[in-house]
Amino acid sequence: MLELDRVSFGWEDDKRVIDGLSLKIREGDKVVILGANGCGKSTLLKLMNGLAVPQSGSISYRNAEPKGRAFRQDCALLFQHPEAMLFNPTVREEIAYGPRQLELPDADERVAHWATALGLGPLLDQPPFLLSGGEKQKVALACLLVLEPKLLLLDEPSASLDPATVGWLIDALLDSDMTVVAATHNLSLAAELGSRCLVLGSGGRLLYDGPVTAALGNLALLEEARLAHRHRHRHDGTLHTHLHVHDWDGS
Ligand SMILES: Nc1ncnc2c1ncn2[C@@H]1O[C@H](COP(=O)(O)OP(=O)(O)OP(=O)(O)O)[C@@H](O)[C@H]1O
Ligand SMILES: [Mg+2]
Repeated sequence: MLELDRVSFGWEDDKRVIDGLSLKIREGDKVVILGANGCGKSTLLKLMNGLAVPQSGSISYRNAEPKGRAFRQDCALLFQHPEAMLFNPTVREEIAYGPRQLELPDADERVAHWATALGLGPLLDQPPFLLSGGEKQKVALACLLVLEPKLLLLDEPSASLDPATVGWLIDALLDSDMTVVAATHNLSLAAELGSRCLVLGSGGRLLYDGPVTAALGNLALLEEARLAHRHRHRHDGTLHTHLHVHDWDGS
C-alpha cells in the first residue's frame, strides 16, 4: 500500500533525521513505530502523509505519488499536538468539517456516530478550545475517523487519553480493516495494537522491523533505542543496575 524506498530527509540541510529508510506497509497492517524522543517518528509520519517530501529516495502510495485529492481522502494523520488542527466554533462543526468539505451526503449521521462512539455527545455544542487535553485529542481523532480513511497515521495517540479510551481505540482499530501506523512510547499500546513494529534509532536508521513481541522481549534492542533504561539502586550497600522497561509487564 505504502512503499518507502531509500528515503532520506532532514529539516535542515546538515542534519539527517531519516537516513536511507526502506519499508513497505501492506494493506490492513497495524504497525507501531517506537523510538526515543527526537529520533524521527513524527517526521516519518509526516513523510508518509506527504507533509514532508524526501530529499532523496521515494515514497509511493498504491504505486503512485502520495498527493492529490484521492490520497488526501485516503490518508489521515493525527498530529502529536492535535489542538493545532482544531479551529471550528463548535465540536459538532469541527467533526463535520471534513465530511462537508468532501460533500459527503451522510455528514450528520457520521458526526453523530463518531461523537457517540468517543463519548463526545455532551460536548458537541462546546467550542473545542475550552475542552481538556484528552477531550481535544478525542475530537481530533473523531475528525479523522469520520472520514473513514484507508491509511490512518497516529502520532502518540494515547498521550492524553484515559485508559478506557485507549482500550476503546485499540479495539476500534483492531476491528477495522484500516491500515494503521502509530508512533508511540506506550509499550503496552504497542503490544496490543501492533503485529509489527519499526524501531528507529538515532541518526534516522531503522534498528528493527519485525514482530512486536520479539522486539519487546529484546532488552538490548530496547536499551539501544532508549525504550528501556538501567535503574541504579542500592541493596545492602551494593550498587545494582538492571534493565527496566516501564509500562510493559510482558503479560
Ligand atoms: N518542523 C521542524 N523543523 C525543524 N526541525 C524539526 C521539525 N520537526 C522536527 N524537527 C527535528 O527533527 C528531529 C526529529 O523530530 P521528530 O519530531 O520527528 O522526533 P520524534 O521521534 O517524533 O520525537 P518525540 O518522541 O519527542 O515525539 C528532531 O531533532 C527535531 O528537532
Ligand atoms: Mg513525535
